[in-house]
Amino acid sequence: MSKDKDMRLEEIPAPLLSWYRANKRDLPWRHNPTPYRVWVSEIMLQQTRVEAAKEYYIRFLRELPDIYALADCSEEKLLKLWEGLGYYSRVRNMQKAAKEACEKYGGNLPDNEKDLKKLSGIGEYTVGAILSIAYGKRIAAVDGNVLRVISRYAERKDEISSPLYRKELKEKLTEIYPEEGVACSDFTQSLMELGALICLPQNPKCEICPLQKICMANAHSTQREYPVLPEKKAKKEEEISVFVIVTEKGISVRKREKGVLKGMNEFPSEQKGKPEEILSAWGVRNFEIVKNKKFSHIFTHIRWDMDCYLVQAEISPFEEYSLADLEEKISIPTAFKQCLEILGK
Ligand code: ADE
Ligand code: SF4
Repeated sequence: MSKDKDMRLEEIPAPLLSWYRANKRDLPWRHNPTPYRVWVSEIMLQQTRVEAAKEYYIRFLRELPDIYALADCSEEKLLKLWEGLGYYSRVRNMQKAAKEACEKYGGNLPDNEKDLKKLSGIGEYTVGAILSIAYGKRIAAVDGNVLRVISRYAERKDEISSPLYRKELKEKLTEIYPEEGVACSDFTQSLMELGALICLPQNPKCEICPLQKICMANAHSTQREYPVLPEKKAKKEEEISVFVIVTEKGISVRKREKGVLKGMNEFPSEQKGKPEEILSAWGVRNFEIVKNKKFSHIFTHIRWDMDCYLVQAEISPFEEYSLADLEEKISIPTAFKQCLEILGK
């Protein structure tokens, strides 16, 4: 309570809303913000930059225009629509939630926190985003942008990964939300937009910021000290061998059974070992290793160091696809897709 006053959050909405209404970007999910459209955009934007997400979003909504279409979509088509975005459990959970919403809520997303939060893949942030942006409710959505803006504005030294800090900010921001309706939708997005366009991680543009006169970090030139980030953990390194096996029938693909990308397609891979031994053990016959090339891929907690082999063979035990199928129908995660380069000169 006295702390609320100290943060002076109530001074934010008026200048920020005027700024947002005059400066907001024209983004596809800002047109006709139905609960379904907002939900899809927020899930996509959780690990993907706005610019990269735009085209995916437009295609996704064209192919799956409503929650029933998402619930009924085949897994292969769904993963193909998501190919390249990463974190594939996001879209799997989204489909699961769509099925739940069709069965339990007549194809609508619930308009309250309790029921929304029960749906697969919908956490605290997404609940706030859907309720405020689509339903116009007074409830905050605290993402990385919002944490950065408010930590600077109020010079809060709490580490932004702290669940207690996030909870506190959500509650305090929710108290200062404008009246129900489109203002709530705008306010949630204005905080994100300020973080994305003005209060940048490096070199914030304070000289053109609508909060310039009331921001504590700007008053004390302490912008660089906020937000306080958690210590970075070193990534675990994994060494794997990847095989692009080509026969007359096509290129070998199988589903991963364990580890990162479990359940996704891959070009057959193993922990690093002698390539000839691995291929023989799988049952690849009459093969020749034509070429070898190194690739790497960085996931959130793991770095893959990949030895990729181009293999010509007569017999492969795996499912085989033409290059055209690999482009149009079969989803291959980016870590593996890059290995197709080995087919070139
Ligand atoms: N990042 C997360 N949600 C967003 C939204 N609705 N608009 C712009 N950037 C975002
Ligand atoms: Fe961020 Fe600077 Fe604006 Fe403060 S004045 S909110 S630090 S851009």
